[in-house]
Amino acid sequence: MSGWSEWSEPIVPVQCLSESGIQTIPERYMKRVPGAEVENEGVNIPLIDLKDLDSSDVSVRDGVLVRISEACREWGFFQVVGHGVDHGLMADMQATWREFFRLPLEEKQEYANNPTTYEGYGCRQGVEKGAKLDWNDYFFLYFLPNSVMNPCKWPHLPVSCRELTAKYCGEVANLGEKLTRILSVNMGLKEDRIHEAFGGYEERGACLRVNFYPKCPQPDLALGLAPHSDPGGLTCLLADADVAGLQVFHDGKWITVKPLPNAFIINIGDQIQVMTNGIYKSVEHRVMTNSEKERLSMAFFYSPGGNVMVKPLEEVVSKDNPAMYPTMTYDQYRAFILTKGLQGKSQLESLKKSKS
Ligand code: OGA
Ligand code: NI
Repeated sequence: MSGWSEWSEPIVPVQCLSESGIQTIPERYMKRVPGAEVENEGVNIPLIDLKDLDSSDVSVRDGVLVRISEACREWGFFQVVGHGVDHGLMADMQATWREFFRLPLEEKQEYANNPTTYEGYGCRQGVEKGAKLDWNDYFFLYFLPNSVMNPCKWPHLPVSCRELTAKYCGEVANLGEKLTRILSVNMGLKEDRIHEAFGGYEERGACLRVNFYPKCPQPDLALGLAPHSDPGGLTCLLADADVAGLQVFHDGKWITVKPLPNAFIINIGDQIQVMTNGIYKSVEHRVMTNSEKERLSMAFFYSPGGNVMVKPLEEVVSKDNPAMYPTMTYDQYRAFILTKGLQGKSQLESLKKSKS
């Protein structure tokens, strides 16, 4: 990837700002106008129990597939339970990363990242000098393919962090693969079609972004994460069950996701939107902050390998339904967006082929 090897300016971790006891947030974090957006209180994203796929009753199994299909088309988001990832491992993973963020700043700074790979501890997206900022610190790491995974770049403290992270990512990758199979079947494709289009076991990619959202003294002005769609294939998010924060844009309104304990929030990313030629939606979402509680979330991005050519699958395009997106590798797409930071859905939209 070309371009930036250093941040354009020093940035204070949000956690330090928060802990300094300020009552007013710096102007750079003011991203919202209170009351300007419509929020919808009464609804939640669809909830799906993947255990029902093992039911001996065909109508139960078909019912799950139909609900996932609808969720991918209409919401781009759903929550899953019965997903097969060990609940104890999920809890341990949350605990170890919460502890990491509690370490003294110097410990965390050992892993300070740069905008070339974003790998490590960081607190901003995009390199534009003077840009507005999100109220969040994070740790970003690569897990797949094996050739890019480098646990030496993962925290050595807490002592169990590396081992837990590797184990957890392995299990969530299995969930990601399972979901690609479900999505393929739902699209009327061969079961391993999306898995293979990701590059199969050898090339498929995965990375983890652990987000830490410190308490914010003016939550109605800041955003934990600005509106964006996820660039990868699909995302499996583990969020604190007792602090809401994630909002999904649906039918012109922001919907607050109510996370369930031990559930994953699944969303379609840009690459699956491209592969399905827009049938499955990579939907905009954002994160709110709050003044009472800090919040931790772990976004596992399951994606095509960096050098895999991504394009609308031949089976879904036709004369009447021509390819809406150009062919490019996932690395090319990432390079295109990483220097810009999070910008809603404008990035994928800007690549859309004009109808001629
Ligand atoms: C992300 C993301 C949501 C959250 O990391 O891409 O959307 O709730 N996170 O932290
Ligand atoms: Ni996201």
